[in-house]
Order: sequence, then structure tokens, then C-alpha cells
Amino acid sequence: MECRLDGQVALVTGASSGLGEAIARLFAGAGAAVVVNYHSGAGRAADLVRRIEEDGGRAVAIGGDVADEAAVERLFDGAVAAFGAVDILVANSGLQKDAPIGSMALSDWQKVIDVNLTGQFLCARAAIRRFRAQGDRGVSRAIGKILCMSSVHETIPWAGHVNYAASKGGVALLMRSLAQEVAGERIRVNGLAPGAIRTPINEKATTGAAEEKLLGLIPYGRVGEPLDVARAALFLASDMADYLVGATLTVDGGMTLYPAFRDNG
Ligand code: NAI
Ligand code: BGC
Repeated sequence: MECRLDGQVALVTGASSGLGEAIARLFAGAGAAVVVNYHSGAGRAADLVRRIEEDGGRAVAIGGDVADEAAVERLFDGAVAAFGAVDILVANSGLQKDAPIGSMALSDWQKVIDVNLTGQFLCARAAIRRFRAQGDRGVSRAIGKILCMSSVHETIPWAGHVNYAASKGGVALLMRSLAQEVAGERIRVNGLAPGAIRTPINEKATTGAAEEKLLGLIPYGRVGEPLDVARAALFLASDMADYLVGATLTVDGGMTLYPAFRDNG
């Protein structure tokens, strides 16, 4: 059995770059019609839609801020107008606004919590309402699936990034609590916790001397690529993972294995 998503509609937030872009492409190749949500990257989102269509897939780009309740409603309405349903949500949008605690502005704390955590709440709520309204469309064993994009920093504390780490810690329990609440309706909620993956969010940390230093934290010896995460996402969204409920797949080359203990601690 392959990981296929034929006949399903997947909405991927923040899909104009990085992990979201890779997930959107892979899901389209696996047979899903894909809603490419973007915030600032309208041109890149349009390019991605074109590439998916050239490959024989179906996609539409819809802008919208995931932290804005009305915009999230419009996003889901747009998805249904384009493809008639939503079967899979990948709540992927996220950002960093890093600063040491003494100089972290309240606005930088708030922005990261708004996008990374409240954005996932708003999108998950809209998706669950939609799944309930649709019922069983006969396209998957579950009536709907939600993937919450977390991070290794849902468990690894991160000095200089307390807003980001707090948001991902929040995502972890948002995900598991939601999974518990809606599993009885055959809605599966799961999470992804990537380590260092080469995308725009960490460009500085993954190039040159910084990359060399970073590799010391990655037992597998390489920085991750977006496809590493997209493949795990495809598995989680597919019926191959039908009995995974409230699970987090860590995709990190071993970053969470306490690499400092490799040489006997
Ligand atoms: P990225 O910067 O390429 O992608 C983030 C996306 O979120 C962008 O497309 C951006 O436009 C979108 N976005 C930002 N604010 C938004 C808003 N208000 N509404 C809608 N979309 C918004 O970086 P990347 O790495 O692809 O990040 C995707 C997710 O993966 C984030 O949640 C990030 O925290 C998470 N992540 C990334 C890791 C990495 O090493 N690259 C590791 C662990 C987690
Ligand atoms: C962050 C990246 C970082 C990675 C590993 C992610 O959640 O967004 O900037 O490279 O975690 O520390």
C-alpha cells in the first residue's frame, strides 16, 4: 500500500516557501487537490500552483493571515469554493522573532504566539467544523486529518527564542488535547517536530561556519531538507497512518537524542 491522497483536498498554510511548499508539492503528487495558503509570498504561491499543474496536479493559491479569525474563515470558504471540500489541514505557518529575554519586545512575543499558536487554533477549529459539516466523504478512513507543525523546540528549551519555544510547547498540547477531543468522530490530529531543516526561517544557521557548528547537534550528520519533513507529513496524512492519533513524528536526524552525551557525557 502506497501513501496516496487521491480524491482528497489538502489545505497547507504558509505554503509559498520552505516546508509548506514541499508538503504542497508532495501531496499534489500523491493525488490531493491542494490549497496553497500564503501570507506574504503571492508570487511564489502562484509559481507553485503553476508547477503543480504542469505536473498534472490540481492547486489553488489563497492568501490570508492565519492569526486573523475572519481571514481564516475566508481561507476555508475559498478552499470549498475551489475544490468542494477540505479533508486535510496542514497547519504549517510559523515564524521566529528572536531576542534575548532582556530585549524581547512584547510585540515580538505576541506576534510569534499569534501566528504559531493562535493561528493553529483558528485553522484547526475551522477544519474540524468543516469536517463535521461534510461528514464521511468516502475518500479516507478518517473523516478528516490535521497535522500541526511543531518543532524539536516543543521539548528542547531554546535560549534567546523563548517566544518561539513557548509557542511550539503550546502546539504540542494543543495538538494532543484536540486529538483526544475529536478522535471519537474519526478525525485524526497528529504533529510533526522537525529539527534543523534548510528553509528561509533558518538560512543563517544553516550556511557556512554556522552550519558546521549546527552539525555538532545533529548525530545523523546533515541538515534536513524540506522533503524529509514532507515525506513524514504524507505518511501521517495518509491511511497508512490510520491508527496514529495524537502522535508526534520527530524528524530531526537525532537532534533530540542529547548529542552532547555521545562521548560518554
Ligand atoms: P518559512 O519561513 O519558509 O515558512 C514559514 C511560512 O509561514 C512562510 O511561507 C510564511 O509566509 C508563513 N507565514 C508567516 N506568517 C504567516 C501568517 N500570519 N499567516 C499565514 N502564513 C504565515 O520556514 P519553514 O521552515 O518552512 O517553516 C514552516 C514551519 O515549520 C514553521 O511553523 C516553523 O516553525 C516550522 N519548523 C521549521 C523548522 C526548520 O528548521 N526549518 C524546524 C522545526 C519547525
Ligand atoms: C527553528 C529553526 C531551527 C530548528 C532547530 C526550528 O524550529 O525554526 O530555526 O534551526 O528548529 O533548532
